[in-house]
Amino acid sequence: MKLVLASKNKKKLVEMNDILSRLGVQVCSEAEAGVDVEVEETGTTFEENSLLKARTVMEASGMPAIADDSGLCVDALGGAPGVYSARYGGEGLDDTGRYRLLLENMRGQSPRTARFVSVITCCFPNGDVITARGECPGTIAFAPMGEGGFGYDPVFFLPERKKTFAQLTAEEKNEISHRGKALALFQEKLKAYLAAQPEN
Ligand code: IMP
Repeated sequence: MKLVLASKNKKKLVEMNDILSRLGVQVCSEAEAGVDVEVEETGTTFEENSLLKARTVMEASGMPAIADDSGLCVDALGGAPGVYSARYGGEGLDDTGRYRLLLENMRGQSPRTARFVSVITCCFPNGDVITARGECPGTIAFAPMGEGGFGYDPVFFLPERKKTFAQLTAEEKNEISHRGKALALFQEKLKAYLAAQPEN
């Protein structure tokens, strides 16, 4: 089976292929599927945005499509930045600007608990949908630490490891991360789905 990844992110394509090739599933880019879709993320939940992306690319390509939507939810900020994680503070900010803004908004706030969330959705042309959600709990550090990862990793602290996501190796992060958990669950669900198909 071949799935199209509803994303322009090459790292995501490699990561998805690494995991799903074990099931005999090949993941290709939008370009390889002959589509180039800009999906406006108008949803208010990770589930809605993930479904929007997967469904739009499935409809454009006529092939099963997979998407993920993720972000950081901070309890003291009412769940912000949440689905707006990539756009927190507006267009002008980069990853560093966004986590600095978060640290500023967290000054004097308590508790500092937070969680990363990832929702993966796969839409099939026959209308079937598979969804998997993964979460990783942690806290917001008082200052950035570590050089690895991306996004909010330098300020996402894991109390039990006494390290931020940015201080973990990619392997260590994948083992416990929201995306790693969502992908593991998705893999199980897809395996069961494929086994139930008459042609398999
Ligand atoms: P998406 O591409 O629309 O899912 O946006 C995800 C955004 O959430 C990214 O741009 C990051 O700001 C943030 N994010 C999601 N996962 C991670 C992670 O593993 N580490 C750091 N930031 C993340």
